[in-house]
Amino acid sequence: MNFFKKIKNYKKLKKKIVCLTAYSKPIGKILDRYCDIILVGDSVATAFYGMKNTKKITLDTMISHGKSVRESVKKSILVFDMPFNTYRNLNEAKKNIKRVLNETKCNAVKLESNGKNFHIIRKLVKSKIKVMGHIGYTPQHKKSFSPQGLNNNDKNKLINEAKQIEKAGAFAIVLECVNSKLAKEITNVIKIPTIGIGSSHHCDGQILVVDDLLGISGFYPKFVKKYLNLEKTIDGAIKKFKKDVLSKKFPNNTNTY
Ligand code: KIV
Repeated sequence: MNFFKKIKNYKKLKKKIVCLTAYSKPIGKILDRYCDIILVGDSVATAFYGMKNTKKITLDTMISHGKSVRESVKKSILVFDMPFNTYRNLNEAKKNIKRVLNETKCNAVKLESNGKNFHIIRKLVKSKIKVMGHIGYTPQHKKSFSPQGLNNNDKNKLINEAKQIEKAGAFAIVLECVNSKLAKEITNVIKIPTIGIGSSHHCDGQILVVDDLLGISGFYPKFVKKYLNLEKTIDGAIKKFKKDVLSKKFPNNTNTY
């Protein structure tokens, strides 16, 4: 069964879909053992480059990360997150996505919804490109962080967006920081899988930024569970290295030619 059919089937079987972001070959290699979907996220801007938001990351930089992750990912669906201002109209989207897929060999692209770009998804899907949608808190289009779907107006807008994205032919939708009850409703109302980040256990799958989960990003909102304090682990190793250099314990004979 192909990867995309497999995750659609998971929804029917109520088997959860496991997703994480990756920005490099070594992390991709580990994630590929456990994940159904790996996202080369534009969160590389904040998590890796320390930028204020995701809007300044360039397509060239994202493509470099995509190529690096592709080196080690063999079995998961590899999704490339299209950065800000690279899919404002159909021509721009087609040109940039063609380049992305040629150069990175990713299996799919993710587009953040601006509430209007469904026709772009529809045309891309028609030309056999696999597309993942993204609704709720969409960092490329929102000014500041806030949970989504808290009032009736917002709620109806998000349900409509999810339906339109499904109708346009996307294979899955990321729900970011969507209120739990609404995430449940959207998950029930559409047939394609919902992948939640800060959107409750009701979603068909879960995604986190891997640097947050590992405790190295320095940014830990409520929806993140830190499975490791990598900052502390690295700190300990560097401290030990410094001590060894100062005490002339490193390098010893085994580290020398
Ligand atoms: O860029 C990213 O990491 C994302 C996830 C938060 C879904 O879009």
